[in-house]
Amino acid sequence: MTFNEFLTAVKYSEKNFVEQVKEVNTIQGLEELFKSYCGKKGSLSLLRKQIGLMTPDEKKQAGQVLNKAFEEIEALYKEKRETLEQNLEDELIDLTAYIAKLNQDPLKSLGHMHIITKTLYELEDLFIGMGFSIETGPELETDWYNFEALNIPKDHPARGMWDTLYVDLGQPESTLLRTHTSPVQIRVLSSQKPPVYMIAHGKCFRRDTPDASHLSSFHQLEGLVVDKNISFADLKGTIETFTQAYFGVETLVRLRPSYFPFTEPSAEFEISCRICFGKGCRTCSNTGWLELGGCGVVNENVLVNCNINPDEYQGFAFGFGIERLIQMKYQIPDLRILTESDMRFLANF
Ligand code: DAH
Repeated sequence: MTFNEFLTAVKYSEKNFVEQVKEVNTIQGLEELFKSYCGKKGSLSLLRKQIGLMTPDEKKQAGQVLNKAFEEIEALYKEKRETLEQNLEDELIDLTAYIAKLNQDPLKSLGHMHIITKTLYELEDLFIGMGFSIETGPELETDWYNFEALNIPKDHPARGMWDTLYVDLGQPESTLLRTHTSPVQIRVLSSQKPPVYMIAHGKCFRRDTPDASHLSSFHQLEGLVVDKNISFADLKGTIETFTQAYFGVETLVRLRPSYFPFTEPSAEFEISCRICFGKGCRTCSNTGWLELGGCGVVNENVLVNCNINPDEYQGFAFGFGIERLIQMKYQIPDLRILTESDMRFLANF
């Protein structure tokens, strides 16, 4: 390498570095770039080796030129590094105050199950303990399972009990969002032989305007027992057992005559008011009782629809809304809060 070639090479390196350093936007990238010029095997460091081969005059001049190049590159490197470090600092957010607040209340810093999910798991446990199996059915149902097989023929006035949301699929009004979990009774009875001891829970849908005690999408839990020698007393005992387990042993249960097409006789089951313990208050409209759900002895027509001989088998069924159950236990004034994601409410459970 001639002296002139050496000078050109140094200038060229300098020029390249000045351009490249503008493009770098990470500290790591900058370090690598700097190393490729000024590191042990960097291009400028390699040029230094050429100086040894020069005449004393050239050596002096070459040394000065090279040192100046080193200085200039180092200055640019330092300047850029400061800028990049400053940028990083600007991006940092100070979370100390936030974390300190979370640590004061560790429960709030951890996610946990929604109260509806928690309640469903609790009820599952309870019924499994009583020998029931957990069954499921689809949220999109046919008219047969949701109504017809449950002894609610087309045009039966009882259809008015459920404000149904139909789906535009197949024949008009043949497909719907299930209005209750009772269709799971039919699905199970048509595919399993008695004895059947089952619960099913899940979402139900109705064409209802949500208010403090109604939701258009809500959860129900359904129970069904079909076996030999089943009586109304078994029904009452089952309801008493699970309501006392859920609400507390002091809870009383009563059945009031009612009507459902799929049970005969039918009843509504009520628990003693949790606020006034039966004395009468605003919550229970001075009756001392809170209505929880419907129940009854499985209608023979339902058994026949599922090819079960009603002379051989009898059964009972019950169903209730999960949100209502939670509302009663925790005295929640407005059900709609259960569907909102307000942590001030949800963190209480
Ligand atoms: N499916 C009824 C409803 O949504 C509730 C119900 C009543 C379920 C009586 C039952 C029953 O299993 O036997 O209103």
